[in-house]
Amino acid sequence: MSKFAVLGYGVVGSGVVELFYKNKEKIQKTAGHEMDLKYILDIREFPDSPYKEKIVNSIDLIVNDNEITTVAECMGGVEPAFTFTRQCLEKGISVCTSNKELVAKKGDILFEIAKNNNCNYFYEASVGGAIPIMRPLHRCLAGNDITSVAGILNGTTNFILTKMINDGMDFDDALKLAQQLGYAESNPAADIEGHDACRKICIISSLVYGRHVYPDSVYTKGITDIQLKDVQIVDKFGAIKLIAQVRRLENGKILPTVMPMIVPRESMLSNVSDVFNAVMVCGDGIDKAMFYGRGAGKLPTASAVMGDIIEAEKHSMTILSQCWDKSEGNSFIEDYKAFSSKMYFRIQTENTSAIEEECGQVSYIYNDNKEAAFVTEKMTLDKAMGIQSALAEKNIITAAMLPILDD
Ligand code: HSE
Repeated sequence: MSKFAVLGYGVVGSGVVELFYKNKEKIQKTAGHEMDLKYILDIREFPDSPYKEKIVNSIDLIVNDNEITTVAECMGGVEPAFTFTRQCLEKGISVCTSNKELVAKKGDILFEIAKNNNCNYFYEASVGGAIPIMRPLHRCLAGNDITSVAGILNGTTNFILTKMINDGMDFDDALKLAQQLGYAESNPAADIEGHDACRKICIISSLVYGRHVYPDSVYTKGITDIQLKDVQIVDKFGAIKLIAQVRRLENGKILPTVMPMIVPRESMLSNVSDVFNAVMVCGDGIDKAMFYGRGAGKLPTASAVMGDIIEAEKHSMTILSQCWDKSEGNSFIEDYKAFSSKMYFRIQTENTSAIEEECGQVSYIYNDNKEAAFVTEKMTLDKAMGIQSALAEKNIITAAMLPILDD
């Protein structure tokens, strides 16, 4: 018999407790031994919870209890989650987390502590909600040279964009609904400004390329500037999605980015709607593989945490291949301006000759003699920004500029 604890009785933590008791028999069979939940750590009181006798407010009780072998950290944020996780790992207690901010900012430190104490720090639930992606990347796809990973990694923004496009809902109402459904972060700015997707692509990049990629080294742009007019114009050939991706370039550097992009209809990612996430992996063996599922919410995320708890119960020694090294400096990360793709522009001008002068060959999608929308040939973001400045010097306003995903 082993005992585990859940830190944080919010959306995800309560989902872990619910799923464990619902499927306890099967979970124990898979783990290979009997298991029970001993503690739930939360500073709040839950007098109506059927598990109220398990709720405690001191981490010391958990880390000093020799019966505890695994902890699920579902608190979110860096502190006190970092301190609590460190305390557990130092006692040899494996930690399974849904906390992407903590993994993205301090994963390297926590892996080191886990290694020194022969336990595991697992993070399947930190990326893609229910989607199995971290374990497949480090295990099932280990035989590949992975050249890129691109995905829709934030359920809230995908839900908002879908509601705006399909139901004509306005941004604020769609965000409120995402909050009610338990999809959004406690501060939803992290969703809509792209920071949540940034943390997730940092985790993927670190695992795939073996060195810690910190959030402040990733170019991150959210969905707050997206205009309905562009959504409608591009609807003919694609959909605007918040895309987090990492590419390995010919010079050996990696280029992780988070930004709204136009996803052409031919791409499987263009049909990923609502709270669903998807991750497209490209490698020399697989060519392409797409992973798809619910990216946020109580039970989908709890499912990933529960899977990690079972995995931790089955492996007492650190699985080094699911960790990555500390990185010194950012020299292995390319400047975001080197990112290259076809670009969509919407500019306000009657003077189409200025467009061709600056952009060369373009394909028009829309032109009403006051405003034109067009797609350029492949170019770097550096060049696209240069075009914007050159047009501004001619008093031509760029109303929108979006890269087009080429997967
Ligand atoms: N706020 C996150 C999202 C939760 O919407 O994707 C899951 O990580």
